[in-house]
Amino acid sequence: MGPLVTQLFGLISLTVALDNGLLKTPPMGWMAWERFRCDTDCKDDPENCISEALFRDTADRLAEDGWKELGYEYVIIDDCWMSLLRDEHGRLQPDPSRFPGGIAKLARYIHDRGLKLGIYADMGTHTCMGFPGTTLDKIEIDAQTFASWGVDYLKFDGCSSNPVEQMLGYPLMSKALNATGRPMAYSCSWPVYIGGLPPNVNYSFLGDICHLWRNYYDIQDSWDSVQGIIEWFSNNQDDLQPAAGPGRWNDPDMLIIGNFGLSVDQARSQMALWTIMAAPLIMSNDLRNLDNSARAILQNKVAIAINQDSMGIQGRRLLQENHIEVYWRPLSHSASVLVFLSRRTDMPYLYHTSLAKLEYDAGNYEAYDVFTGSTVTELNATTELTFSINPSGVVMWYVYPEQQSKQTETLHNQHNKASQFAFHKAKPVHLTVL
Ligand code: GLA
Repeated sequence: MGPLVTQLFGLISLTVALDNGLLKTPPMGWMAWERFRCDTDCKDDPENCISEALFRDTADRLAEDGWKELGYEYVIIDDCWMSLLRDEHGRLQPDPSRFPGGIAKLARYIHDRGLKLGIYADMGTHTCMGFPGTTLDKIEIDAQTFASWGVDYLKFDGCSSNPVEQMLGYPLMSKALNATGRPMAYSCSWPVYIGGLPPNVNYSFLGDICHLWRNYYDIQDSWDSVQGIIEWFSNNQDDLQPAAGPGRWNDPDMLIIGNFGLSVDQARSQMALWTIMAAPLIMSNDLRNLDNSARAILQNKVAIAINQDSMGIQGRRLLQENHIEVYWRPLSHSASVLVFLSRRTDMPYLYHTSLAKLEYDAGNYEAYDVFTGSTVTELNATTELTFSINPSGVVMWYVYPEQQSKQTETLHNQHNKASQFAFHKAKPVHLTVL
């Protein structure tokens, strides 16, 4: 980094902060990209092309099929929504044939259903798919345009720009969004373009200007891709984990559950690991055609409640042995979540451990198995546990101190959050674990 760039960086750090109170828990919703990409062929593929109909359909599904009540609220347009030309005032405009009603009308449709609208732009000369980019001189007008349309969330990509432009552009967009007076969540792809790690990425500064950020490569519809992401985030957890907290989230990219690439076990693994990572739960799938197992995983109330834990502490990988990995995340009310992930490819593996081996304090605990729905009582730190973990699958345990379970239940009843914390009501089963 040259001295001029360092000085600029210092100056920007002093003058910019985005604190509009949004995203105190990781955002939840749906984004077009992974499933629908840049399909602009509305003639031959009218159901799946990037058009206002796709976003209206998705909003209908979110509102009518129980997603909204669970917290899935953002409907996010990705690349390929734009016309190739700005309008006569220099403003971005949607492709007129695919978005004939315009974005403001689409925003109203989405807001009328109690949902929020996200949109995509790119810090650079062109978006990743070659549509008009937001160069430094266009940042203000684009922020104003989005606000005037009623946009609630901006994904700001970084194709076709250099590191200096990015260093200037990402904070400037933060400031420009603030200046509109409309609270908008701000997702920054900046880290991906500069390697994702310190010293290139200054995560504490990033947390001051963005609500979330993409750290790593794009997710694809395969278990290989999901594994690669989990691996990179875990290998670099010392740098990434402390960066997260309420209003500032690492984003390992979309949930691909319900598409073509994951088995049921692998889909649970993605949900479990995204929960450990306090990751955004932003699906990219076809909500009009979703099988029941995918729906059950994505609508798992306990997994969602854990992902949305108010402390917002990202979890960590504790250990790896025999191709089994153990992950842990601390939660409110002295609870925690444990995930046992199998990276094996042979058969269900019997993994022996105890809470004490995983550094839990002595004491009595209960646990709720998030995907089977069974409760384990009369557990202490030294109880020997045996888990059977399927190849590329997980076991996910919500663990809480026994003496608190009653108190916690009362507390949650008072707040009438019975649905979120259904796990305290589940029928207890005694510890035979297998
Ligand atoms: C980049 C981003 C993706 C998506 C595409 C769109 O690759 O990382 O998430 O937005 O651009 O072109």
